[in-house]
Amino acid sequence: MGMGMGTSSFVAIVDDDDLMRSALEGLLKEGKELISEKPAPDVLDAGLISAAQHVEHYEMAGYGTVRTYARQLGYDAQSELLQRTLDEEGETDHLLTALAESSINLDAEDGGDESKNAA
Ligand SMILES: [Fe+2]
Repeated sequence: MGMGMGTSSFVAIVDDDDLMRSALEGLLKEGKELISEKPAPDVLDAGLISAAQHVEHYEMAGYGTVRTYARQLGYDAQSELLQRTLDEEGETDHLLTALAESSINLDAEDGGDESKNAA
């Protein structure tokens, strides 16, 4: 282990529901604020992708941390499972980036008026 942290120390960190809840509430609040500003539809789409990626990155930080704790404590099976989940979160993040780059950000850059694209 080498870090002077036993299993109970790791569990105390991982098990902090209040910390996780307030972080996710903050991210959701950002999304709600964006919606309440009633931006043009394409701009809203771009903003919602950004909000979703903030959530993905928060999840990835959490899974990555717990994966490392599990690895350090010798919980190899759990570590592998957490790594798989981390990889899935990363794939979702990359898909969102591809979606943003291929169309949604371009539409938003055009001013967010969907009717322009219909012509
Ligand atoms: Fe996710």
